Amino acid sequence: MIEFELLERDGLARLGRFTTPHGVIETPALLPVVHPDRERQPIPPEVMRQEFGAKAIITSSYILWRSPVLRPRAEVEGVHKIVGFDGPIMTDSGAFQQHAYGDVEVGADEILAFQNLIGTDIATVLDLFTEPSTEEAAASAATEETAVRARRAREARPGLLAVPVQGGLHPAVRLRSAELASELGDVLAVGGVVPLLEQYRFPELARLLIAARPGLAPQLPVHLFGAGHPVSFAFAALFGVDLFDSSSYLKFARRDALMFPWGTVDAAGIREAMCACWLCADLPLPEVMRRPAEERVVHFARHNLLTCLTEVARVRQAIRDGQLWELAEERAAAHPALAAGLLQAVRGARWFVPSEPESRPGFRATLPSATLRPAVIRFLARLGAWQAGREPNVPHRRMALVPSSLARLPAFDLDGRPIRYGVPTPVGPVPLELSELYPIGCWNGPDSYATGEPRSAPREAEETERLPLRGDELVLWTERHLGAILEWQYGAPASAEILAEHPDVVRSRRTGRVRGIVKDGAVWFTVGTDGLPYPTWQGARRLHPLLELPRRRVLVDADAVPFVTEGRSLFSRFARPLDRALGPGSSAHLVDDSDRLLAVGRLLLAPHELGRFRRGVAAVVTAHARSPPPITEEPVEFPQEDVPPT
Ligand code: GUN
Ligand code: ZN
Repeated sequence: MIEFELLERDGLARLGRFTTPHGVIETPALLPVVHPDRERQPIPPEVMRQEFGAKAIITSSYILWRSPVLRPRAEVEGVHKIVGFDGPIMTDSGAFQQHAYGDVEVGADEILAFQNLIGTDIATVLDLFTEPSTEEAAASAATEETAVRARRAREARPGLLAVPVQGGLHPAVRLRSAELASELGDVLAVGGVVPLLEQYRFPELARLLIAARPGLAPQLPVHLFGAGHPVSFAFAALFGVDLFDSSSYLKFARRDALMFPWGTVDAAGIREAMCACWLCADLPLPEVMRRPAEERVVHFARHNLLTCLTEVARVRQAIRDGQLWELAEERAAAHPALAAGLLQAVRGARWFVPSEPESRPGFRATLPSATLRPAVIRFLARLGAWQAGREPNVPHRRMALVPSSLARLPAFDLDGRPIRYGVPTPVGPVPLELSELYPIGCWNGPDSYATGEPRSAPREAEETERLPLRGDELVLWTERHLGAILEWQYGAPASAEILAEHPDVVRSRRTGRVRGIVKDGAVWFTVGTDGLPYPTWQGARRLHPLLELPRRRVLVDADAVPFVTEGRSLFSRFARPLDRALGPGSSAHLVDDSDRLLAVGRLLLAPHELGRFRRGVAAVVTAHARSPPPITEEPVEFPQEDVPPT
């Protein structure tokens, strides 16, 4: 049984790893397709590993089985010897040949037994390839047959097993197929999509990945058969694909086509040294074009493979940096079909939102499609709930929530009613006191994406400007700001109780922004650059009795209670969800089964994933009883921003 461990995430993408008998695979990973006959494989797989960094490959067990020369050797020596690769090898089953040639000569049990015999690291069930044109009833029948084969394969296979997810373009069949595969497989291999990829039918691909999503067990890696163009890697990863395989590096090379992350270039027209990869630096493209055809194909195949593997590395880095949406949007700008496919994420937002990080280090939003990211949709949904029943907003220009502005901003009207200011943001007016929350607080892009309309000049709220200031407006505004962000996270009753204690704030010396909420010299909350409050141990202790069950909580199994109490990380297998509205990056109250607060943790997993990953961390403890007490005699400056040198 596979033990897939999640390390970082963005969108539905996961930076993860799992172990095979021949080594670890780190995801997202591209498994280049290798011909099992060395004579027909222009780049030896060991070269792929040593020079290009390919960690794992895929080959066809069916082609091997069909070869009267190679099959007997493979049965004795094993697949690793035959292809010449010592790392993880996944084998495919022949379903693709069924798609390409209409039939395969081997039975499902037989090809699985053969994969066992040759010592593959990941075997694949012989599925029935459903075409995009297959009618629903036929797609459903084929999927059920694939499931029957998968059940027999599971019994026959002790090692890792990839179970295909088929179903054509029919959402209900895709969902059912994903559920069946999740019961039996170690790797969930989405198939039947090569025609979509070849024809750039990305909106349909996105729709079927979203349709399958609720059925795909979150603790298992998802493979996408045949996704081989680098323009689509960020897109596929964003929709939850962990593994890709493709022979397109070679197929494109054979038709003199060069792959780039932003598209394909016909080599015949190339007159300039327009690629700076180390292969094309050694042998510039105009020079390659003068070489004999066989040599050209090898150069192009090497360039294409390097481009593909580098792009997958970029995808992994983007996940680490919380920048995968940005990368996917950038790539989508290269092709209208990708841009249209990305818009499908809006329709699938409810499947993105549960694993959507609570915030990211930044929000770069160069293209209008950024206003449709799930982070925005979730923000607007919560904003709608927050505003229900509150008075309408008075338009005001955007301003930072800092003393220099707030001290001069009237907080109440002549009748003593609070004035609610709405400030313009790229996603519409937002109450001033919430305007520093992620994603709008760290929005890095145009103020407005509207076309045709002139940008409204920043304007003061005239009717309020003439109002007299009643006293210390800064104090009133600070309270209102704290009340708003505490209510956003913890609900109105808890927020009111905390405010009733009249906490102080610590502001950044450099920017004037609130950086901490302090009571009697003890920091209760730090305020992140995402505008959200994060409790310390003191803060969490005060807050905990104010939070109605199950708000903000994660349950810790009795076995792990002593460890978590001491500040050790909470592992997934000891964690159970309580508050389903939490998400990755949320600070959670880690409690035992009598609701005793053990520690505060920062979640890596979403609630529906807790306990399902058998390996790895669910939450890192950020505060616990023995955390160093952040109590100081002096007014705390917390946390210190860098003061620029004068
Ligand atoms: N290779 C490309 N598409 C497929 C598919 O749908 N199933 C299998 N097994 N292999 C593939
Ligand atoms: Zn190149």
